[in-house]
Amino acid sequence: MKTQKSEAVLKFDGREITLPVIIGTEGDKGLDISRMRKETGLVTIDPGFVNTASCFSQITYIDGEKGILRYRGYPIQELAAKETFVDVAYLLVHGALPTEKERMDFSSLLNRNSLLHEDMRHFFDSFPQGAHPMHILSTMVNAMAAFYPNVDVHTTARNIEHSCARVISIVRTIAAFAYKKSIGEPIVYPRHDLSYCANFLNMMFDSPVRPYHISPEAVRLLNVLFIVHADHEQNCSTTAVRAIGSAQVNLYATIAAGISALSGPLHGGANQAVIEQLRMIQADGDIGKFIRKAKDKDDPFRLMGFGHRVYKAYDPRAEIVRNECEKYLAATGIHDPLLDLAHRIEEIARNDSYFIERKLYPNVDFYTGILYRAMGIPENMFTVMFALARLPGWVAHWREMISDTTKIVRPRQIYVGRTLQKLDDGAERLPADLLV
Ligand code: CMC
Repeated sequence: MKTQKSEAVLKFDGREITLPVIIGTEGDKGLDISRMRKETGLVTIDPGFVNTASCFSQITYIDGEKGILRYRGYPIQELAAKETFVDVAYLLVHGALPTEKERMDFSSLLNRNSLLHEDMRHFFDSFPQGAHPMHILSTMVNAMAAFYPNVDVHTTARNIEHSCARVISIVRTIAAFAYKKSIGEPIVYPRHDLSYCANFLNMMFDSPVRPYHISPEAVRLLNVLFIVHADHEQNCSTTAVRAIGSAQVNLYATIAAGISALSGPLHGGANQAVIEQLRMIQADGDIGKFIRKAKDKDDPFRLMGFGHRVYKAYDPRAEIVRNECEKYLAATGIHDPLLDLAHRIEEIARNDSYFIERKLYPNVDFYTGILYRAMGIPENMFTVMFALARLPGWVAHWREMISDTTKIVRPRQIYVGRTLQKLDDGAERLPADLLV
């Protein structure tokens, strides 16, 4: 899958060493420095891993310059238009789209693993009113290891298969339970006769006094939204999953780490932050002021939902979501002034030299919140939606990582602190707590 066609030469301290250049199947080139420290004493420095490939992966391919995203070789546009989320989850986790039999088996595995252990239901009562659902989600997923053992990397292939299906399926149940708890309504259990997305919508919105009518259009949309979020190679949360997992931590603790990483506003938390920011701009009325703030080096303000580490062209996911958003609002007759505002901001940014020079385009999070709002999903659940969708990606990367390498993730550093210090001999010291 990977080839080595050439080498680079490093000259240092009067010596020369050759470093292999590894080429991926799509032509990505990487300098293999794994022997460099042994041979030269040098390490590489790359804060934020801006220039570092941390692994070889066969799951997702991105060409950020051309705005290309593919899962297992399939373009995201085609998957979003033609496949279901469950099929895409299977594709990511198993490497190929399922046959009819594999689809039935996988769906039934997801169904059988969708119930949350009854004793865990009571955990929801202990969270304070108003707790963010992302905090509840990561805590609950972490706790799953106590209820569902046999998920360490040395367990059987069958246990791994079941645990992966369980975490993909149960997180949806936990998310819906957390929402019901937050609004003081009785929880709704998963149903075996509903598809993955329909089941989630039903658990979120069905109520004893207001039965939920499952709209096929909402189910289709949720499939599209989940598919476009399902994986994105070595982003912050996936890197967290691979790093934590490399210590041979159990699958649930590993996924809980991914959920925690995703909650940050620079990552998945951006979808909630976008809506909050749009409302702030709407209330103020002066778009120009916020564009100026975003461009001001001395102002920490950033235009949320803009920019991306990898995409230096329009994020293909943002394009899909933007189109779906416009179509859904038009079809349902919803007029959301925030969509007009988002369009206006995009137009200004795309004609402004600051954004043009830095290649800052709307990312996946810019339009998702508007679409979720239109579907009736509350704002504090936006990032949870992202987490549900990203589950197959995290699971696929965890499986690839445990089958690929036994190396624990353990970067080096360049120490820049004090050199050797001497304690002042003879000086009397009191314990710290007596020094008040
Ligand atoms: N608003 C204003 N300026 C920006 C923005 C923005 N949203 N994003 C980047 N820049 C500027 C940044 O100030 C820097 O300028 P200069 O070269 O003059 O110093 C330049 O563009 C490059 O930015 P960077 O911070 O070095 O880029 P990065 O790759 O480290 O960060 C990012 C990527 C996504 C964290 C960043 O673009 C950002 O903070 N965006 C807003 C938050 C957001 O929308 N996050 C969701 C990302 S997509 C979904 C996901 O991954 O979860």
